[in-house]
Amino acid sequence: MEAINTIQGIRDKVASFKNEGLKVGFVPTMGALHEGHISLIKLAQKYVDEVVVSIYVNPKQFGPDEDFEEYPRTMESDLAKCEAAGVSAVFAPSDAIIYEDETYLNITIDSLNTYMDGGSRPGFFEGIVTVVNKLLNIITPDVAVFGQKDVQQFRILQQMVREFNHNVQLIMGPIIRANDGLALSSRNAYLSGEQRKVAPSLYRALSYVKKQIENGAKNLDLVLKHQKTELEAKGLKIDYLDVFSFDTIAPVNEVKPKQKYILAGAVYLGETRLIDNIIIELHD
Ligand code: PAJ
Repeated sequence: MEAINTIQGIRDKVASFKNEGLKVGFVPTMGALHEGHISLIKLAQKYVDEVVVSIYVNPKQFGPDEDFEEYPRTMESDLAKCEAAGVSAVFAPSDAIIYEDETYLNITIDSLNTYMDGGSRPGFFEGIVTVVNKLLNIITPDVAVFGQKDVQQFRILQQMVREFNHNVQLIMGPIIRANDGLALSSRNAYLSGEQRKVAPSLYRALSYVKKQIENGAKNLDLVLKHQKTELEAKGLKIDYLDVFSFDTIAPVNEVKPKQKYILAGAVYLGETRLIDNIIIELHD
């Protein structure tokens, strides 16, 4: 496995795969790799011959008060994990390689980022679309894999691929969880021992709401309100806990059969923000 930090270097590597008639898959990450990331690599390997992983902590997707400086950077162990997972090449560029000193263009997102994380983190998805747009142009993969953990990210990137005509198939991998249900996240490293113990209550709340929906609960608002109160009593601060349309990422107050919804929550445990979600599709 090669670790490459220039654009020309990774372009040449991908070209050499394509010249051999091999299909290329791509898993973009910000490093601090865990089993969730590895699962996406394994999923990509089912579709393609060679998998490229990028490791780049994208400054444009962090707000001024967010954790860009603190974000865990563990390049050496990340490279070892990629190698063990059978990754063909890692693209690990510096900021200077990804962003020019002076730029003249900015991406804006008209819709899909009003609610959920888009509502709470101004500029977040614009930063993600900017960097993933660049990465897809650099790597030109046949397939790119993203996690359901960041389902709004997937939905917005799906739209980006459609509207900007990227020639790539996007695949969404399921959320990998710890034994107690907590969704794996690089940010879980911030949690204290005590916080780690209460962290799975977000997934428990979502699972409970899902069961109520499946059992035909009529008053969705009431079910959600009850779970919010329970989480607050455990010391979690709620950013949102709601059901959204998968297509429009707008909140709904009714779940109809045969439509796709996202039951999602974001909470603060101290300074740490945790997100999680469950996709809901009811059959008649
Ligand atoms: P990062 O947070 O490193 O996540 C990289 C990929 O791993 C994303 O597609 C994310 O959804 C997925 N992932 C994270 N936790 C997961 C879990 N528990 N189970 C399955 N998949 C999981 O998402 C980003 O980086 C960035 O926004 C990026 C797309 C790289 C652009 O900078």
